Amino acid sequence: MPDRYAVVGHPVTHSRSPWIHACFARATGEDIEYQSIDAPPDGLERTLDAFRAAGGRGVNVTLPFKEAACRYATELSARARSAQAANTLSFEGARIRADNTDGAGLLRDLTVNLGRAVASQHVLLLGAGGAARGVLAPLLEAGPARLVIANRTLAKALALVAGCPGAGRGVRPEALGYEALSGESFDLVINATSAGLTGAALALPASVFRREALAYDMVYGRATAFLALARAAGIAAHDGLGMLVEQAAESFYLWRGVRPDTAAVLAALRAH
Ligand code: ATR
Repeated sequence: MPDRYAVVGHPVTHSRSPWIHACFARATGEDIEYQSIDAPPDGLERTLDAFRAAGGRGVNVTLPFKEAACRYATELSARARSAQAANTLSFEGARIRADNTDGAGLLRDLTVNLGRAVASQHVLLLGAGGAARGVLAPLLEAGPARLVIANRTLAKALALVAGCPGAGRGVRPEALGYEALSGESFDLVINATSAGLTGAALALPASVFRREALAYDMVYGRATAFLALARAAGIAAHDGLGMLVEQAAESFYLWRGVRPDTAAVLAALRAH
């Protein structure tokens, strides 16, 4: 009998995670089965109870359940604690361990797949919601020279900065409104807003991109206004497909102790 895993979300039908994990399993020879489960908005707990009772070994958790997944867990990793959200749960008897691999996935995509260092760079993180909170601590740990969080609602960026755990290797994040960004420029600009999902444009001056900057949208599979703005400014721009594959690989590693190779999976998804 293969060990059972799943992605739990609402909606979840379009999730690529079952396909990605099936590729990892084939490539590593791990005997697992990975399904997708649509849980009712108020039903994460009973959905997970049932999956565990049926022998489930772990789940990925996606929107809108990442915060609830932390509350369901009996143990939080440091990464889940600082994100106040979990995307990976591991089940071992009564123990439910929560972790968050989103930040590690972003860092690995940036530094390994795209070959861009974060250390000593000037980094702008757009957004102050759950997606931004999930990657903030790992970004700080990577040792940027400066990290600015810009948000439409400045109060939320200020709160995120104020609640920020021990600031990595010393740099303290700063919070700014978009209007304060004119005159500022960055090596790395990461869009963690949900604007790309609604088709909205960000009030972002093109001058935020330094000449050799990299623009990264954590949303994937969409031609977002943010990516269009960067490309129009002649800046290298990437969507979050690599982050999706890398966070999955990190989850697979947590569950199975084997780190799958991601290059072929990412190339196949891009070609699709
Ligand atoms: P998520 O979990 O995806 O981060 P969220 O917690 O609802 O979702 O946060 C959405 C983020 O996208 C917020 O930072 C939001 O800005 P506000 O805090 O000002 O609402 C940002 N966002 C969404 N649409 C936006 C837009 N059109 N322009 C600028 N920021 C936007």
